[in-house]
Amino acid sequence: MNEVTTKNFEIDYEKIYLEEPNRLTPTPDDIACELQLSALGDWAPLTYELDQSLWLKNLPLMEPWWHPYQPKPNVQNDRECVLIYGAEGDKPNSLSGIRQLYEKLGRWPLETEMNHPTEAQQQLSVMHEVFDTFDLGRTFLIKLNQGGFFPKHRDHIHLTRESFRLIAFLGDNHKNFEFELDGIKRTVIPNTVYYFDTRKEHRLHCWENKNDNAMVVMNIKKDWNNILRLMTKIGH
Ligand SMILES: [Fe+2]
Repeated sequence: MNEVTTKNFEIDYEKIYLEEPNRLTPTPDDIACELQLSALGDWAPLTYELDQSLWLKNLPLMEPWWHPYQPKPNVQNDRECVLIYGAEGDKPNSLSGIRQLYEKLGRWPLETEMNHPTEAQQQLSVMHEVFDTFDLGRTFLIKLNQGGFFPKHRDHIHLTRESFRLIAFLGDNHKNFEFELDGIKRTVIPNTVYYFDTRKEHRLHCWENKNDNAMVVMNIKKDWNNILRLMTKIGH
């Protein structure tokens, strides 16, 4: 099933439904998975304890690969990324933004088809325990530099989405960083992985980055196995 991935107000969901009913009709598996994910809450820290000292050793290894994340003309937004899982043959500095990929491929790629580790995956050893737990799709390391932001948006709001999202916060200085989800500013525990409900409105802003903070955004294949693995890792 193809994913619908653009701004929700640009999508005529009813038209898509009338043309391709299966595309937006949740299956029993979709409903089971989404109900279970909803029961976990909007913002749930997981039990992984990411090793700050290992991250600081990994960070210089990323240096050759940082490149701007989805730059837009006439918009100043200082974000840099390294692709960790992408399409077959992708490099760490290949395109990683879904909208950029649409422009390259002429179609919206599935998050789950981008499940090939790049050269950077081996080097980002601080994340290996997490990577080894789940079936990962498109995954990238992203750094918001001073003034970098993601404006308010929602990701994959329909019940037929093929993936859910985890985010890891690497580095230990988040006092000048804001993550708002569903109208509430969330506490970010450094070096922690969260499940969060991307179907709810969210935004991120970074007012200052001491250059050791970054995030790993992971798209996890939405199936019952991955959700059971997630439940085992829920912190409280
Ligand atoms: Fe998002």
